Amino acid sequence: MITKGILLAGGHGTRMSPLTKAVNKQLLPIYDKPLIYYPLSVLMLAGIRDILVIVNKGQLNQFRKILSNGERLGIKINYIEQKTPRGLPDAFILGEKFIGKNNIALILGDNFFYGQSLTNKLKNCIKLKSGCKILLHSVKNPNLYGVATINKKNRILSLKEKPKNSKSNLAITGLYFFDNKVVNLSKTLKPSKRKELEIIDLLNKYKKKKKIYPEFLGRGGAWLDTGSIDDFYNTSAFVSALENRQGLKIACLEEIAFNNKWISKKEIRDAINFYGNCMYSNYLKKLI
Ligand code: DAU
Repeated sequence: MITKGILLAGGHGTRMSPLTKAVNKQLLPIYDKPLIYYPLSVLMLAGIRDILVIVNKGQLNQFRKILSNGERLGIKINYIEQKTPRGLPDAFILGEKFIGKNNIALILGDNFFYGQSLTNKLKNCIKLKSGCKILLHSVKNPNLYGVATINKKNRILSLKEKPKNSKSNLAITGLYFFDNKVVNLSKTLKPSKRKELEIIDLLNKYKKKKKIYPEFLGRGGAWLDTGSIDDFYNTSAFVSALENRQGLKIACLEEIAFNNKWISKKEIRDAINFYGNCMYSNYLKKLI
């Protein structure tokens, strides 16, 4: 069972400058909460409580202010600073001590997932014993992402990063599950032309050993991108439409922790004090 997860929330956020000049992208709002709540909620829904948040240099205090050590959410959050955005697999090198002898989940701080059977799928993914598991989702513009081609038996045939012309529209989402070999494999990677360690090179190492398995989010699931400013507004609109229609919040961390029985009514009351008088607190009040 995978019990540890890394949330990669560094990067320069260049595509969103000047919004990201002073504030980390993962702390900007997606409708009524900071972006980081959404990927963090995915790890929590998977049942993962031991989390390493990797942030960029100089912005650690911003994250501590909102998430602290995770105790109020019934989880444990450790932080590490990444000096420069050296690429996604750097997470496993920086996180070596945190990972120890365990298998590990990785979620990118700018990824948004939503869907009916998401929690079941996540619970299935954390059962991974060896190899690696990736979550694929169909998109209209695969050239913006890592892309997988598969055969009829759902075996992965190829994995490419942002291919110009791809016959496949299956994007590799920013949620990955790896066995413990990932640490040493990441150390063997060489920087690409853009001077980054590439997740696709890492995944291809698993593919070579026939140890990579796909999971599909399916048509009923949503995977949204928050890479650009327009994406931010579109994702916000999606959250706003659903929350206001259903009266249920997406990625309310306290609600997930409460439902998982990781926190009690007391912590919900503390959270209401912490957030103060706001929409989010009003929702928490309804929970208890
Ligand atoms: O979103 C899914 C895609 O994420 C995958 O389909 C691609 O295969 C994968 O390479 C990645 O592509 P992006 O070009 O979107 O990655 P980006 O460089 O934007 O980084 C994603 C997040 O990770 C972002 O929140 C910043 C953070 N990050 C990134 C790098 C390179 C770090 O914290 N440190 C880093 O060194």
